[in-house]
Amino acid sequence: MKQQLEALRVEALAQLDALSSQKEIEDFRIRMLGKKGELTALLRGMGSVPAEERPVIGQMVNELRQLLEEKLETKASVLASEAKNARLAAETIDVTLPGEQRTVGGLHPLNNVLEDLIDIFRSMGFDVVDGPEAETDYYNFEALNVPADHPARDMQDTFYLADNLLLRTQTSAAQIRTMENRKPPIRIICPGRVFRADEVDATHSPVFHQVEGLVVDKGITMCDLKGVLEQFAREIYGPQTKVKFRPSFFPFTEPSVEVDVSCSECGGEGCRVCKGTGWIEILGAGMVHPRVLSGCGIDPEEYSGFAFGIGLDRLTTTRHKISDIRLLFENDVRFLDQF
Ligand code: DAH
Repeated sequence: MKQQLEALRVEALAQLDALSSQKEIEDFRIRMLGKKGELTALLRGMGSVPAEERPVIGQMVNELRQLLEEKLETKASVLASEAKNARLAAETIDVTLPGEQRTVGGLHPLNNVLEDLIDIFRSMGFDVVDGPEAETDYYNFEALNVPADHPARDMQDTFYLADNLLLRTQTSAAQIRTMENRKPPIRIICPGRVFRADEVDATHSPVFHQVEGLVVDKGITMCDLKGVLEQFAREIYGPQTKVKFRPSFFPFTEPSVEVDVSCSECGGEGCRVCKGTGWIEILGAGMVHPRVLSGCGIDPEEYSGFAFGIGLDRLTTTRHKISDIRLLFENDVRFLDQF
């Protein structure tokens, strides 16, 4: 019996050494120490052992059981920590490796300037409204005091989509739609694309951008027009900017003006940006014609207003010293990347 025990001990320890997974450990435990295990089977043979030897054999069996249990436990924890180390090694991240380069998009310079412009007018209490690019003759011309045979139509060569449907030549159409839908006091701007049959060159494009503005309330005067537009010009071009109002003509305003700002590049000396004049024309404006007001159901005896149309492309090219308007429409990434 002693020899059998000794042999089992040698064999068991050898097997135990070779165990290499938690599953093998569990199988071994069952095979050796389980109810039908080898050590348990040996114990059953105790019957044939002489009574005086039984305590000794019993102790040996217990010692072997204890030894195997301890070794199994150690083995299990060694295997577990090896497995953990292997996983940590496999999951190691080298934080010193260069990262993946991701290019970040940006706003188009036109949108950039437009956002600034919207901020300026919002802070003065204006709402931003939208209008359709395909317009009827009524909204684009007639309601703006440009009847069918009016010579002002020649100022704007129009793309016609159908008999009475055209691509808007000016955002001014938004004035009419707004006055039809809102009661005074009205303070809105309407940014958008406009279209004219123009040849493409460095300063002309058949598609360009305007921002229309309209204010209608009781007691609005030319002073309000001047105050709002001077404030706008100084916020866009800087506080030192000089603003000049020149008499002009638009069918839908009376009186009408064109507004120039002193060139922010040369301070009025004359340079490439202002074509040597020292001034940059940025918008047309005027007091809303009484006929336009009454056409929209607003009594010109009670209310008055001013309107303006800002050339957004001009604002953007002068602000960023862009020499050719075409660059704004070609969307060449090498150009856009610079903003
Ligand atoms: N619609 C004009 C244009 O395209 C610009 C303009 C001038 C708009 C005077 C206005 C205005 O609202 O009052 O040239």
